[in-house]
Amino acid sequence: MSELVRLQRRDEIALIIADNPPVNALGQALRQGLLQAFQAAEADSRVRAVVLVCEGSTFFAGADIKEFGKPPVAPSLPEVIDVIEGCSKPSVAVIHGTALGGGLEVALGCHYRIARADARVGLPEVKLGLLPGAGGTQRLPRLAGVAKALEMILGGAPVEAGEACEYHIVDELFEGDLTDAGLAYARRLLQEGRGVRRSGEQTRGLEGTDNAALIAARHAEVVKRSPGLFSPLRCIAAVEAATRLPLAEGLERERELFLECLNSPQRAALVHTFFAERQAAKIADLPVDTRPREIRTAAVIGGGAMGVGIALCFANAGVPVKLLEVGDEALQRALQRARDTYATSVKRGSLSEAAMVQRLALIEGITDYAALADVDLVVEAVFEDMAVKQQVFERLDAVCKPGAILASNTSSLDLNAIAAFTRHPEDVVGLHFFSPANVMRLLEVVRGARTSHEVLASAMAIGRKLKKVAVVVGVCDGFVGNRMLFQYGREAEFLLEEGATPQQVDAALRNFGMAMGPFAVRDLAGLDIGQAIRKRQRAILPAHLEFPTVADRLCAAGMLGQKTGVGYYRYEPGNRTPLENPELAPMLAAASREKGIERRELEERYIVERTIYSLVNEGAKILEEGIAQRSSDIDLIYLNGYGFPAWRGGPMFYADSVGLDKVLATIRELHARCGEWWKPAPLLEKLAAEGRTFSGWQPDRAG
Ligand code: 3HC
Repeated sequence: MSELVRLQRRDEIALIIADNPPVNALGQALRQGLLQAFQAAEADSRVRAVVLVCEGSTFFAGADIKEFGKPPVAPSLPEVIDVIEGCSKPSVAVIHGTALGGGLEVALGCHYRIARADARVGLPEVKLGLLPGAGGTQRLPRLAGVAKALEMILGGAPVEAGEACEYHIVDELFEGDLTDAGLAYARRLLQEGRGVRRSGEQTRGLEGTDNAALIAARHAEVVKRSPGLFSPLRCIAAVEAATRLPLAEGLERERELFLECLNSPQRAALVHTFFAERQAAKIADLPVDTRPREIRTAAVIGGGAMGVGIALCFANAGVPVKLLEVGDEALQRALQRARDTYATSVKRGSLSEAAMVQRLALIEGITDYAALADVDLVVEAVFEDMAVKQQVFERLDAVCKPGAILASNTSSLDLNAIAAFTRHPEDVVGLHFFSPANVMRLLEVVRGARTSHEVLASAMAIGRKLKKVAVVVGVCDGFVGNRMLFQYGREAEFLLEEGATPQQVDAALRNFGMAMGPFAVRDLAGLDIGQAIRKRQRAILPAHLEFPTVADRLCAAGMLGQKTGVGYYRYEPGNRTPLENPELAPMLAAASREKGIERRELEERYIVERTIYSLVNEGAKILEEGIAQRSSDIDLIYLNGYGFPAWRGGPMFYADSVGLDKVLATIRELHARCGEWWKPAPLLEKLAAEGRTFSGWQPDRAG
């Protein structure tokens, strides 16, 4: 038997104990051990029932994701579950923690399932570009019904044990010791004469509803909401097979569809993202014994949209937060904004009245800096101007208690200069939220030259607490996200001067998978915001670099985007649908004429390469400079803050999957034709020459 699985006999019950830390992922050795344990229990004539429990913090968390993409090694999980389900002695899965993916599928293969009351069960495979491939799409609908099965399989979110009980996924809840509960349940089965009960032979879930109609409705919804995603439609096809085929044939169909997903580039990208999120929490040079400071109370300076959004993040996480504005009127406006945001959530049904009241009670409006004396963390979110930041940080330095963390939400200013306004630059860190802060998952944690290890660890911990994807970045203009965005936006504008319309550029990038096109984004944000950044860039960048002029022309004409009803697009009052701005065409023509450009039709592929590769080239520079720790951190920033399609894995992963030699060849062509902006990043040249990838590159191994 495998070292990861122990088999003990307790009177007439076989107790199978799996132990594969940290999450009991069902890797080959564990599968082998389970198979042998069930076969041994079957063969032992003294055994009348089987109990399966897991050691550690959780039941099986699914297949071993690290094995995907490698040659399969027997026994496969479906083979193991076949043996479990086929066992002639009743078996009980004892669930605690989370039974996810293949973990829940193992439990569904057992004849009975009991769950600790705080456990959760789910089939999250879709988030990895997969479908449940070990019987989940066939057994779950038979127990829980097609509607619930589709909800769980397409949504990927786990359900609480209580709910799983209601849907016949779990038979009974328990409290206390896992083994005791499992053995007691098995003894009861034997006493009551309840024998083998195979999920695959159940039909209750498939009866009494119009399954074809349910499936058609979800199909239409997926086509509309998730265009471009590979696995959801295959999930539906597999569940549909369950409604009309006998189990064995349904399982075969599920396997085919699973393998299609497993071999798709989307699966590779989404698995990359899964590990990227876990990697991002690891900071190479942070001593392992670094303890984050406890953050019991927080404060936000500035009650604009960003400040209020940040305050909501703290309230949502149950952290009391003070919101400071300069005068009472501004404060009341800020508090009203907080109330309005929550009221909208209540109206939409995503928040209960009671939760709203609770959260609002955590937000205290203040106008006096003296009230900040006892807070553990302050986040400054005032106007993006160094003189204003200076005033704020000098005041914070004077009033805050020793050890308070002083954070700036600056999106582009020099954090080291901000830290220098205080007596404790080691307590200063950047917490760069993205708008709307209470919605966007990304948090750039900006590490200043003097930020202490403890403060950095605390910033990462607070990011986790706020349920953000926190990514460490170094200090430079725009940090990672906006520094790359500057390249992307500029190239998009150059495309307008070469002959494209905003509609064409936006459509090409939406077809690539971006949540929004760059010009729709600019109209939403307001063109005046970028203007200040463009001015600063022009002042600091070499004079020979050429800039596009369309955005400035629009600004000069007062066309600032949605807020003025016209920008790259035109908008009807109260309507955000982008329509053609008839005044833009002559501006584009003038911009092209002045640069001696003959306007031409641009291919979609060219539009995508010119914009996306500008991100990649800058990302390579960022990586080499050590502003980001690893390429997957850059990917996370673009996936969570800039609407990059999850199924492409982020710009750096995308470049890796295209092949860095190909990417470099295109960048070289652009360099020859479009000038200095396109000078290839040295790291890109080096990796392409060596046939390597960004993902495989580590700064310390760079050589
Ligand atoms: N395979 C391999 N490693 C896994 C894993 C898995 N299924 N699940 C988690 N891990 C690893 C993580 O990478 C991490 O490793 P690290 O410490 O080296 O970074 C470690 O386990 C701990 O994971 P978390 O940091 O995520 O721990 P949490 O306690 O925050 O969360 C969890 C635990 C809820 C189980 C979470 O890890 C999770 O959601 N895991 C993935 C579950 C999943 O997607 N299962 C489906 C797999 S696909 C499948 O089963 C196919 C089947 O249908 C055939």
